[in-house]
Amino acid sequence: MFAALAEDLRTQGYSVKPDAVPLALANSLRDELKATAPGRFKLAQMGRLRHQHTDQQLRGDSTLWIDDQSKAGLDWLNWTAQLQTYLNQHLLLGLFSFESHFAHYPPGSAYTRHRDTFVYASKHAIAKDVESAASQDSKHTGQSNSANAQQAASSRVLSLVTYLNPDWSVDAGGELVLYTKAEAVEVLPVHKTLVVFLSEEFEHEVRPATADRFSVAGWYRRNTSLSNRVDPPN
Ligand code: OGA
Ligand code: MN
Repeated sequence: MFAALAEDLRTQGYSVKPDAVPLALANSLRDELKATAPGRFKLAQMGRLRHQHTDQQLRGDSTLWIDDQSKAGLDWLNWTAQLQTYLNQHLLLGLFSFESHFAHYPPGSAYTRHRDTFVYASKHAIAKDVESAASQDSKHTGQSNSANAQQAASSRVLSLVTYLNPDWSVDAGGELVLYTKAEAVEVLPVHKTLVVFLSEEFEHEVRPATADRFSVAGWYRRNTSLSNRVDPPN
């Protein structure tokens, strides 16, 4: 599966693979999600630093970051790390870190057409964020920091999405639409389907569904270390 996925990425910059995530892994992620108190999910933000805001019309999902503190989370991070190693070996993408979250789209909610990199904010605005984050932090702590600045400047290389919806019906909607130069590729959020695409290349959107829609969205990032400090994943 990794080989076929790498070949798709090499030839077209994206890949859609039904049944790609092992059943046991998808089921344990789904169980973890079901066992999580709903209050731990936070309404998703758009943008970074001072550009961060919520707007449920544009983006209606709630998210929860995945860490290695549960068996499901640890297994997921191990699996995505294997994919990272494979892709680095075969495509030289220089993937350095990975971060991912659960996402819950309640019925009727959507995510309008967007890119996963922060290109909609001008380079100038991002540069200013980096500056103000760094100087604010040094005001408060007396030391020059770079965690926020690095975070603002950090780059997503490869986006990954998988779905945790074992009984998705074809007329429930909730498609991911990936806009390639040639066409709009529609993907139903079916359990275990894996989608990966170059973050800077592809705009995409999530259409509203008639049922609760659960996904995991993740991003491999390149190393954006500054001042001899290793770039933290989040
Ligand atoms: C995202 C996203 C797609 C999906 O979280 O940035 O585009 O199908 N998710 O859930
Ligand atoms: Mn996205």
